[in-house]
Amino acid sequence: EKKEIGVIGLAVMGENISLNIESRGFSVAVYNLEKEMTEDFINSKAQGKSIVPAYSLEELVNTLKRPRKIWMMIKAGSPVDQTIDALLPYLDKGDVLIDGGNSDFRDTEKREMKLEKHGIHYIGMGVSGGAKGALNGPSLMPGGSREGYKLVEQILNGVAANVNGEPCCTYIGPGGAGHFVKAVHNGIEYSDMQLITEAYMILEQVLGMDASDLHKTFSEWNKGDLESYLIEITAEIFKKNDPDTGKPLIDMILDAAGQKGTGKWTVQLALDLGVPIPTIAEAVFARIISSFKEERVKASSILTGPPLQHNGNSKSFKYDVRDALSASKICSYAQGFFLMREASREYEWDLNPAEIARIWRGGCIIRARLLDKIQHAFKSLPDLDNLLLDPQLRKSLENSQPAWRKTLTKAMESGIPVPGLASALSFFDSYRREQLGANLIQAQRDFFGAHTYQRKDKDGVFHTEWE
Ligand code: 6PG
Repeated sequence: EKKEIGVIGLAVMGENISLNIESRGFSVAVYNLEKEMTEDFINSKAQGKSIVPAYSLEELVNTLKRPRKIWMMIKAGSPVDQTIDALLPYLDKGDVLIDGGNSDFRDTEKREMKLEKHGIHYIGMGVSGGAKGALNGPSLMPGGSREGYKLVEQILNGVAANVNGEPCCTYIGPGGAGHFVKAVHNGIEYSDMQLITEAYMILEQVLGMDASDLHKTFSEWNKGDLESYLIEITAEIFKKNDPDTGKPLIDMILDAAGQKGTGKWTVQLALDLGVPIPTIAEAVFARIISSFKEERVKASSILTGPPLQHNGNSKSFKYDVRDALSASKICSYAQGFFLMREASREYEWDLNPAEIARIWRGGCIIRARLLDKIQHAFKSLPDLDNLLLDPQLRKSLENSQPAWRKTLTKAMESGIPVPGLASALSFFDSYRREQLGANLIQAQRDFFGAHTYQRKDKDGVFHTEWE
C-alpha cells in the first residue's frame, strides 16, 4: 500500500519528524542521500513502525500516494536546490513539497516560483523546537502555496505541539512568509538568550552568586512572568556538574558563541526594510565579539575597567535584575513583531500577529508565558502599531522601569557589558520620546553636504549656508 508522506533527510531532525508523523497514524517513506543512514534508522528507531525505506528519489516518489506529499528536512542552502532538481523529474502536477529547514526566505520564494511553473505546490516551513520538539511536537510555520497547505494541513496539525487543544501550526502567508517568520523567531531566540546571559553575568558578578544560587534563582523566575523554555533550561544548566572535574559544567565551557546565520539574516532583513531591531542586532554582535576569544584574552591584560564591587547579597537587587530582564524581553519581542509588521506590508503577506504569537506558545524555543499576553494584545487590537503600546504590557514596562534603570546603572558602574539590556531600554526611550536629537543630524548633513532639512514651523525643503 502506498504511503501518506515521504521524508527526505535522516539527520536527527528528519528522523524525529518521521517518528512523530508515524506516531500520529500516518504511514511514512524515508530517504537519505547516504544509504547507510537510512538502513541504520530502519533497523533501529523505525523498527516495528509504519516507516519504509526508499533508496532513490524515484523509489520514494513511487512509494507515495497521489498527490504526493514530501517533507525535506535537510541542510539549508544548495542541498535544497540539488534535492529539488533531482526530485523534479519524478513529480507530477498537484504534488506538495515542503522545505522544513532554516532556509533564507528569498531562496524559498525563488524555489516556489520555479516549482509553480511545474504545477507543484511548494511550502517553505519554519520548524522550531530542536530535536525534542521534532519528536514530540514542534511549532510549525508553513508559508507558500495555500492550496498545498490544505493538502498537508491534517498531517501538520497532527505533528505540531498542542496548547489548550489547539495545534501550534497555522498558515503564515504566501511566498517566503513561513521562513521569514522563522528567521524572526530565531532573532528573538538570540536576543532572549543574550538577555538571560547578561542577567547571569550581573547576578554572578555583582551578587557573587554561584551555580547553585543561579539554579535556584532561575527556577524561581520560571514560576513567574518570565516563565519560558529558555529560563527553564537555563535553571537546569546551572545544576549540571562536569563528570571530569566535579565542578559546575557551565564554568568549564569556553565563552565563545557559535551561530549558523538565522539571527544574522533577521538583522540584515531589518536593515533592508529599515526597521529598528537593536536588541536582536546586539545579540548577534555579542555572539560575534565573544568569538574573538584570543583577542579578548590579550586585551584583558592591557585594558582596565572599574573594580568589581560586590553588592553583598542585596535581595532586592536580584528582583531588579529580574524586572530588567522582563522589560527587555518585552522590547525584544516588540522589535520582532515590528519587523514582521513592516515585512507584511512590503511583501503583502497579510501576516496575522495574534496567530503567530499563538503558534509560538508551544513547541518552539521561544515559547514563553509572555506570548499569551502578546496574543491577547493583537487579538484585541489587530492594528496595534507596536506591542509597547498594549495597555497590559505598557503597565508591566511602567512597573519595571525603576528596576530596569537601576540594574543597568549598576552593571555599567561595574564594567559588565550589557548590550542587550541597554539597547532594549534605549529602544523603549527612543520609541516613547517625541523629541530625539535627529534635528542635529539633519543640520550636520545640510552643513557638510547640502542634504537639506525640513522645519517644524513650515512645510518645504530648506538649505542654509552654514559658514
Ligand atoms: C529552533 C532553533 C533551531 C536552531 C537554529 C539556531 O527554533 O529550533 O532556532 O532552528 O537552534 O539553527 O542555531 P544557531 O544558534 O546555530 O544559529
